[in-house]
Amino acid sequence: MSVALCPGSYDPPTNGHVDVIERAARHFESVVVAVIENPGKNALFSLEERTAMLKEALAHVDNVELTSFGGLLVDLARARGISIIVKGLRAVSDFEYELQMAQMNNALLPDLDTMFVTAKPSWAFLSSSLVKEVARYGGAVDRLVPPGVLRALEERLKGE
Ligand code: PNS
Repeated sequence: MSVALCPGSYDPPTNGHVDVIERAARHFESVVVAVIENPGKNALFSLEERTAMLKEALAHVDNVELTSFGGLLVDLARARGISIIVKGLRAVSDFEYELQMAQMNNALLPDLDTMFVTAKPSWAFLSSSLVKEVARYGGAVDRLVPPGVLRALEERLKGE
């Protein structure tokens, strides 16, 4: 069975993430979306919250499974027998970082390849960090994130 792995911090998930996962789900029999603990980043939402937000945003996609993970991505891929990572590319600026990760993952696990989906132009400017920054200062992000993420952002940031 062809299974794709869509890993990310997803802090929080955006419409751009949802678009990439929906498109991966059209090309693979199933997609494992892995919400990854990233100790280097100070997350606004817990792993459980991010996973729940993505689960709600992807409820309409039958062949998607949500999981959360802390550790090396290659270990998750190996444990699940997955050989394809699918990630989104927004701009050339993403490319260097993504290329390096793809090559490192392939060096660690030679059976593991990375494929890229180009972001829709309408979401190319979108990032989780910008969404958080705009929302924190009261800007409108309702067209940029799924409804459940909007609710969670309003709730989390209202005390700040
Ligand atoms: O959405 P992001 O934050 O760009 O996703 C990056 C992520 C989570 C996919 C990457 O940091 C990752 O794979 N982390 C797990 C730890 C790991 O395997 N690090 C080596 C990557 S080459």
